[in-house]
Amino acid sequence: MSSVSKDSVLQQFRDTYGYQATGVWSAPGRINLIGEHTDYNSGLCLPVALEQRTLVAVAPRDDQAVRIHSRQSEATYVGAVGEIGADWAAYPTAVLWSLAREGMTVGGIDLVIDSSVPVGAGLSSSAALTCSVALAVNDLHGSMFTRDQLVQVCIRAENDGVGAPTGGMDQTIALFAKPSTALLLDCRDGSIDHIPFDLHDAGFELLVIDTRVKHSLADGQYGLRRAQCVDAAAILGIPSLREATAEQAESLSDPILRARARHVVTEINRTLLTAELLRTRRFDDIGSLLDSSHTSLRDNFEVSCDELDVAVTAARVAGAAGARMTGGGFGGSAIALIPAGKSADVTESVREAFAAQTWQPPHFFDVAPGGSASRL
Ligand code: GLA
Repeated sequence: MSSVSKDSVLQQFRDTYGYQATGVWSAPGRINLIGEHTDYNSGLCLPVALEQRTLVAVAPRDDQAVRIHSRQSEATYVGAVGEIGADWAAYPTAVLWSLAREGMTVGGIDLVIDSSVPVGAGLSSSAALTCSVALAVNDLHGSMFTRDQLVQVCIRAENDGVGAPTGGMDQTIALFAKPSTALLLDCRDGSIDHIPFDLHDAGFELLVIDTRVKHSLADGQYGLRRAQCVDAAAILGIPSLREATAEQAESLSDPILRARARHVVTEINRTLLTAELLRTRRFDDIGSLLDSSHTSLRDNFEVSCDELDVAVTAARVAGAAGARMTGGGFGGSAIALIPAGKSADVTESVREAFAAQTWQPPHFFDVAPGGSASRL
């Protein structure tokens, strides 16, 4: 992972544009402990912000030009306010477009982006980017919008600007995380609860295993799952699968819709149980819930892949208390909850399992729960 700091992004801004940025803002990536593919079903999820962050150095301009340099892509986008760029540039430009749509008089801007959040790894690099840009531009406009409103601005930027049908989990954790906590998010009413997540005190580590299989939310499978959930709820005559009972899910005659609904109903229940275990500091009992979550995502929701399944199995074999894919799936990352001292065994086991398949070696890092988007 590249070393990313306020100084390095300020230096890059000077090198790119020849003058000093007004300031630097940043927002975190995340893992989701549990509660996967539940956010767009008005369900519950339990994300944790990472210490890995996306930084943006920003200066307003007195014309309508928009220049954005990405250190990851080593490319500079040049356009105008209201235009939406392509590839990586779609995200920041869609935020400017979305802010304007909400009534902000957005002027031109120069931006430099740098990030330690791995891209396409299911760790919410998109929301880290959109939320850091949104907070920066909002601060430069006298904090016109609240953080709740910025969550909506960023969701709309991704859904309608970029065309990625993301739910609201990633934007909410990026803008509302608190260090050393997990965030229980109830997507039915938007309420949040910060639950202490003092892993190390409890004798555990949480390992991220980035399979390096790239995933994309814009490729159709994610949107298809969303549509299937909407269909299942419509057949049951309820506003969303949040309202479904296990019996209702099992009553669906279409086997695919039945499996999708089963996942959502059981996953919401697992999320509630996990939150309760965290509150009562019973970390030991969380592992089996992570395992069942993975099995359901693999078999009922069908969003896992061979690399994620192998990573999860190898982690468990080497002593992880539990492991599961995290994020949207179809590639990306798994997480493993590991009793302190067993981390090296787990990484070795996963590395060997990948080598046996002749897959590229995964990347590993420990989760250190970080804070929300802020000005640095
Ligand atoms: C992606 C989306 C989130 C959520 C997860 C699956 O990360 O951005 O909104 O739906 O997938 O839980």
